[in-house]
Amino acid sequence: MALLTRRDILALITVSAAAGVRPIRLGAQAATPRRIGIIGSGQQGGSLGLLWAKAGHEVLFSSRHPDQLKDLVDKAGPNARSGFPQDAAAFGDVVLIAVPYGALPQVGKDYAAMMKGKVVIDVGNPREDRDGPMAADAMARGTGVASAEYLPGVRLVRALSALSFMQVQKEAHRAGEKLGVPVAGDDAEAVKIVAALVTDAGFDPVIVGGLSRAKEFDRNTPVYVKGLTAKQIREALKLPPA
Ligand SMILES: NC(=O)c1ccc[n+]([C@@H]2O[C@H](COP(=O)([O-])OP(=O)(O)OC[C@H]3O[C@@H](n4cnc5c(N)ncnc54)[C@H](OP(=O)(O)O)[C@@H]3O)[C@@H](O)[C@H]2O)c1
Repeated sequence: MALLTRRDILALITVSAAAGVRPIRLGAQAATPRRIGIIGSGQQGGSLGLLWAKAGHEVLFSSRHPDQLKDLVDKAGPNARSGFPQDAAAFGDVVLIAVPYGALPQVGKDYAAMMKGKVVIDVGNPREDRDGPMAADAMARGTGVASAEYLPGVRLVRALSALSFMQVQKEAHRAGEKLGVPVAGDDAEAVKIVAALVTDAGFDPVIVGGLSRAKEFDRNTPVYVKGLTAKQIREALKLPPA
């Protein structure tokens, strides 16, 4: 699939709204406003950051070319700003990493020390065609296990990886039963913080377990980008009812 530029993504949001597709809507304002740094402000990172900024969180979108983030920051409104990836790592008490999985080792080398002790959400999905052989290794062991090795010292949570960016843009805060979002992490407090951010983004969190269980919602699993509700995810993963 051809990658979209940020301008394309913003245009899609606008066209979707004009075509009567459900636009991004404001959810309830965040109960606990956070400072969220975003490393990788493309399709997934940009779309999630927009939702969090609208929900009342402070968001720093980052890029290696922050001058290209103006449209995104304008769209996100007064809670948003831009900077370099190191600014996002420093700014966030929560950091979202949304880079091609093959870039995660470098991001870890460059910024894990700055993010030490912080809650880090990793949404990256390994794809061998894009990321090379390291993707096969991560898929075999599970992303929760592999990403933890690339990001030593952070309070890692896998979440928001099993939703497509189009689902993020079109289905957030939908009426009726919300889309479910599997969440996995070893740090119970970090998982709780991320589950609240999933709710603030307009989805329904499903706590699956520790990082070793993130494998259960990696690419090609029955719950990956299938548009399931939380109840359906719990059934598919044989989790007890909420
Ligand atoms: N798109 C989806 O529907 C979706 C859904 C779920 C999960 N994901 C996963 O989320 C991740 C991002 O996907 P995406 O579709 O959002 O990709 P994308 O639109 O290409 O955005 C990725 C961003 O990563 C940044 N980046 C790349 N290499 C970097 C590096 N070495 N250091 C810092 N930043 C770097 C780039 O920012 P700059 O070039 O501006 O610095 C780019 O804007 C992937 O792992 C993907 O599998 C995507």
